[in-house]
Amino acid sequence: ETIDWDAEAAEKGGYDAYMQKEIFEQPQALSNTLLGRLHDDQGSVELDIELDPNSFDRIHIVACGTAYYAGMVGKYLLEQLARVPVELDVASEYRYREPVVTDRTLAIAVSQSGETIDTLEGMREAMRGGAQTLGIINAKGSSMTRELDHTLYVHAGPEIGVASTKAYTSMVSAFLLLALWLGQQRGTLSKEEVARLVHEARALPRLISEALSDDRLGRVREVAQKYHQARDYLFLGRGVNNPTAYEGALKLKEISYIHAEAYAAGEMKHGPIALIDEHLPVVVVATESRLLEKTISNVQEVRARGGRVILILSDGDTENVQHAEDVLYVPRCDEMISPIVNAVPMQLLAYYTAETLGKDVDKPRNLAKSVTVE
Ligand code: AGP
Repeated sequence: ETIDWDAEAAEKGGYDAYMQKEIFEQPQALSNTLLGRLHDDQGSVELDIELDPNSFDRIHIVACGTAYYAGMVGKYLLEQLARVPVELDVASEYRYREPVVTDRTLAIAVSQSGETIDTLEGMREAMRGGAQTLGIINAKGSSMTRELDHTLYVHAGPEIGVASTKAYTSMVSAFLLLALWLGQQRGTLSKEEVARLVHEARALPRLISEALSDDRLGRVREVAQKYHQARDYLFLGRGVNNPTAYEGALKLKEISYIHAEAYAAGEMKHGPIALIDEHLPVVVVATESRLLEKTISNVQEVRARGGRVILILSDGDTENVQHAEDVLYVPRCDEMISPIVNAVPMQLLAYYTAETLGKDVDKPRNLAKSVTVE
């Protein structure tokens, strides 16, 4: 069919691809998602849902793909900030593993489209067990929002690129809001701790804008071009940034078709270290964290075996540059909000690698934006 390139270019806002446009829409998407829910003056969180914070004592998070990795961050945040036990499953497994569900279970579906059949069926399985259900969803009026008890919408706007970017960071920020709110309502966080994290979270739109500054873009593009012929990539992270490694690996493989896998950095010595050689780029998330020292010792294990380390470091960390072949700096921020900021170099590395390889980043082969059939 004849494509109206001008109309399409106009829709892409002058960007080369929807994915690129959506990466740059993240400050606005986060601002829209956080707005009205974070109150700096009172140092408190307010959610527009009717959920009783004391009506459950266990959480099940069910999702697919990138939404699952948002849920992985959610597990860390909910357990650390709200002290609620969380089980996390990919939906296609949850549906069939006969999960133990009671009426004191809160089942959370994470889904950009709100239409992913495995996630919807996972929620139906939880409902059969008597669970209360909550959706963290971007698409307004989707199937899931009609069936679930509550929906905590993210306001990322329509996401066209198959590879999810702004929806991911918005869904992670929704988990941050939920964890802070539960911590506040259940008293597992002091007023001061809530106020501090509310203040940090309100800085997220600015931090993401800074992570997208021209000099940082140029740096990521250089790294992407340097390693674009790699046949394999390894992504490592610890703690709340372990999911960041998984999201980085998925972004890269789904649009550049380079095989990429992620691992908990502490797991290297239990097998994956055998993979290390001079052909393997190893991206390690090593930003400000109480686990930074341990992560750096994992990096040293990789370097000692000739691995090619690409370090994601917090601005100002000159100490750890010595352990890397290449460094990508991100704005320094609190560990609890860092998975949102650290997603940006992951997205850009994938985007520029795919661009260098001449791939169609908006419509990767074999993929659909939403998997609505079994
Ligand atoms: C992510 O970049 C992929 N497009 C894919 O993994 C996606 O996250 C997954 O299919 C879940 O989709 P949903 O968020 O619409 O449920």
